[in-house]
Amino acid sequence: MMNEMEAVRYSEFGGPEVLKVERVKRPEPKEDEVLVRVHSSGVLPIDWKIRQGWMPMPVHFPVIPGSAFAGVIEKVGASVTEFKVGQEVFGRTSNGSYATYTTVSIDTIALKLESIGFNEAAAISGGATTAWQVLFNDGNVKAGDRVLIHGAAGGVGLFAIQFAKWMGAHVTATAGPTNLEYVRSIGADMVIDYTSTQFEKVVQDMDFVLDTVGGETLEKSWSVIRKGGVLISIAGQPSLERAQEKGVRLIKPSRAFAKKDLETIAQLMDEGKVKGFVGQKFSLHEAAQAHELSQRGHGRGRIILQIVE
Ligand SMILES: NC(=O)c1ccc[n+]([C@@H]2O[C@H](COP(=O)([O-])OP(=O)(O)OC[C@H]3O[C@@H](n4cnc5c(N)ncnc54)[C@H](OP(=O)(O)O)[C@@H]3O)[C@@H](O)[C@H]2O)c1
Repeated sequence: MMNEMEAVRYSEFGGPEVLKVERVKRPEPKEDEVLVRVHSSGVLPIDWKIRQGWMPMPVHFPVIPGSAFAGVIEKVGASVTEFKVGQEVFGRTSNGSYATYTTVSIDTIALKLESIGFNEAAAISGGATTAWQVLFNDGNVKAGDRVLIHGAAGGVGLFAIQFAKWMGAHVTATAGPTNLEYVRSIGADMVIDYTSTQFEKVVQDMDFVLDTVGGETLEKSWSVIRKGGVLISIAGQPSLERAQEKGVRLIKPSRAFAKKDLETIAQLMDEGKVKGFVGQKFSLHEAAQAHELSQRGHGRGRIILQIVE
């Protein structure tokens, strides 16, 4: 039916099995929104953390998971002049992206350039945007800085390596054995296999550490940062007392979302200065498997739900 769509939804917190594909009413865009036919949706770790009931934000059931997407504008809201029907866009929606359609504010989307595929574009929000935010908006990574990136093969890490290199930093990256060569091939100057080498024994005096892993990795990072150096963790809660004791500047990720970052990143990708990455691909009906894989916490690049073949 014309006014229906398929959506992955859940009505209670729980494991991947709570995800169900349902036929639901297609949403109408509000004044400042557009309706998008979703081609690809990024599967972010936060999607399953919300599904598990681990996140503090209020949740209204039933939930359509997902925020990162790329697709084609199907309809524009009454006051929208910046975009028109038929344009290819990507970005972040707060109305769920694991669906054949979503509505999204025009403040959180940008035009998808032709050189970038839908799957690649769906990997930008929550991956490239987070890396850009923490390196350049929250942090102030500059040419010549010595930067350590933990979880370098992940949806955030692969972009963080490239952005830091683009800025002229010296990049050290930690990854598992199957990702080492890849991480090196996209620009890491030094790669460390976290399964066989204790990074804290071979790295020191870092100006900037980006932790996307948390736990022990975060705890062991204190000793490798120079006095006055910066630590940002997007996967743990570093202790302020520890930072003061070590003379490290602790910066909290702001979680801000800048539309202009979407445009800058797309431009860099279009110019071939930064590569996009697609990890494993699943269909909408395989969302539970995609979540299971994401929950394992290993792999390369962003997991994608490819909704339009
Ligand atoms: N606060 C925020 O704004 C924000 C935004 C985005 C993401 N995050 C969080 O940041 C974390 C990472 O996100 P993501 O999207 O990059 O995840 P992801 O795509 O699942 O990637 C995780 C990566 O970590 C690597 N890894 C696992 N254990 C490791 C270890 N001990 N040392 C080094 N690398 C290790 C894995 O590679 P191997 O296969 O090589 O093990 C994998 O590539 C998640 O917890 C996510 O929720 C927070």
